[in-house]
Amino acid sequence: MEAEVTFLPLARSAKVRSGTTVLQAARKAGVAIATRCGGNASCFMCKVQIEDWSNLAPMKDNERRKLAGLEQSNTRLACQAVLKQGHTVVQLPPDPFRAAIARQLQRQQEEDTLW
Ligand code: FES
Repeated sequence: MEAEVTFLPLARSAKVRSGTTVLQAARKAGVAIATRCGGNASCFMCKVQIEDWSNLAPMKDNERRKLAGLEQSNTRLACQAVLKQGHTVVQLPPDPFRAAIARQLQRQQEEDTLW
């Protein structure tokens, strides 16, 4: 069986075989998701938001333990979320470098308006 994943806000998609993780699908789609643990559910860096989990395999214990307290936030670990079939939409977190630059620019604009 085949699954399709779309990564937002980039609007990039990939078709993959059933059993593929969201992280593997991201790589196929050319989408970078930061990892430090190589997909072993220990670095917590691959968090993504997935609203509809109906096309994903049930969450395993290691992912459930890692995401304790985030159950209501639609958060999944891309390295552990396994695609079954159908179409899944994945919301990527904001790029931390771009967010830092945006904060710095806003600070400078606020300082400039004081002069
Ligand atoms: S890649 Fe490290 S927790 Fe997913």
